[in-house]
Formats: sequence, C-alpha cells, structure tokens
Amino acid sequence: MRRKRTAVLISGRGSNMQALVRRARAPAFPAEIALVLSNRPDAPGLAFAKANGIACAAVDHKIYAGREEFERSMQALLELHRIEIICLAGFMRLLTPWFIAQWQGRMLNIHPALLPAYRGLDTHERALTDGVKIHGCTTHFVVPAMDEGPIIAQAAVAVLDDDTPESLAARVLEQEHIIYPASLERLAAGMLRVEGNRVFSNDCAAAPASLRNPPA
Ligand code: GRF
Repeated sequence: MRRKRTAVLISGRGSNMQALVRRARAPAFPAEIALVLSNRPDAPGLAFAKANGIACAAVDHKIYAGREEFERSMQALLELHRIEIICLAGFMRLLTPWFIAQWQGRMLNIHPALLPAYRGLDTHERALTDGVKIHGCTTHFVVPAMDEGPIIAQAAVAVLDDDTPESLAARVLEQEHIIYPASLERLAAGMLRVEGNRVFSNDCAAAPASLRNPPA
C-alpha cells in the first residue's frame, strides 16, 4: 500500500496535527504526514513537527499583497512535497475558491461544533449561551463556503451544568483527536463516496458480518 502524502495546515498549537501525526505512525495507516505548513512562523505546532522529523514550513501571509499570492506560494510548496491530501487543523485563513478548487475532494477541515450549527468562531461560548445540551465537533470536506461541505464524521459531547467555554472545549477537543485521524484514514484508504452533501463510508462492508447485522 502506498501511503497518501498528507499536509497538515496549522496556525497555532496544532493539537489536532499532533493527533494526526501520532495515528499516522502506525505502519498500516493509509496516509503519512509529509508536511506541516503554517501561515504563522511562530506557530507552536511547528516545533512539534520539527522535533518529530516532519518537514515543516511557514508561509507568512502578512508578506503577500493578497490572498491568492499567498496561496500560490503555499500551492508551490505543496506541489514540491508531492502532497495529495490537505488537513486543515486550526488554520485561521479563509481560502479562495481558486485554492479550494485545486484540492476538491482532497481537503478536510475540523470544526469545533456540530455543523451546521455554530459555524465560525467562539463556538463553545455560543453553545453555552444558547443553553444547548449537546455540543461536539465535525470533520468535513472543504468547499468555498466557510464551515460548509459534506460531513464525514461528528462526535457529540453532553454539555454539563458547570461547564465553562474552556471545560467544554477540552472535552470537544478529545473527540476531535479521535474523529480527525479516523476521517483521514477513510479518505486516504479510498473508503469515502460523496453524493451531494452526503458522505458514505464503506467501512460497513469491510466489517465482519456479525457487526454489520447486529441481532434485532
Ligand atoms: C480546534 O478546536 C479545531 O476544531 C479548530 O481550531 C482548533 C485548533 O486547535 N478548527 P489545535 O491547533 O488543533 O490544537
């Protein structure tokens, strides 16, 4: 099996990137993290990548005249590293339709809410303000609209009476670290089929018959 060369794009601490790197260490994992790319040269996540022998680079968006110039530099680096899949992991730049089109069906994002609820920022605060009882996270394919695109996986957590945005974020983050590697695994293994907004995974077909047809 040839592992799919994957780039993780970050802007900050990169805990999801670390979860992807750890999972991708398994020899049978169908993707390898071949590049960690940040738009911020001081992103703490870059140090982890470096310490773990992963190629890493920063393309500082501030030195470019516009979004597309910035993205063309990123695209050149991604091509240089023969990247096949992109995982956005706390990458805090909006991407242009041009860049997104280059990676259609090959670029994933993780969002800290149960989409389509709570697109955008401050999801945990907003969930608490609204008094919802269930919150969570979502992995999805990237399309030109922010925090939209066919959903691959979601995980829910219960909102507790004494939750703060921080405590809720921490429990959601634990789930992010589970569903993101699982989503990359399915994409890289060619197990995902997209029809309109729906994503079907053929893991069920690969599971033993006893799991596929639980007794009624
Ligand atoms: C995560 O909550 C992710 O869902 C969101 O940004 C945060 C990034 O955290 N897109 P980290 O850098 O992966 O730790």
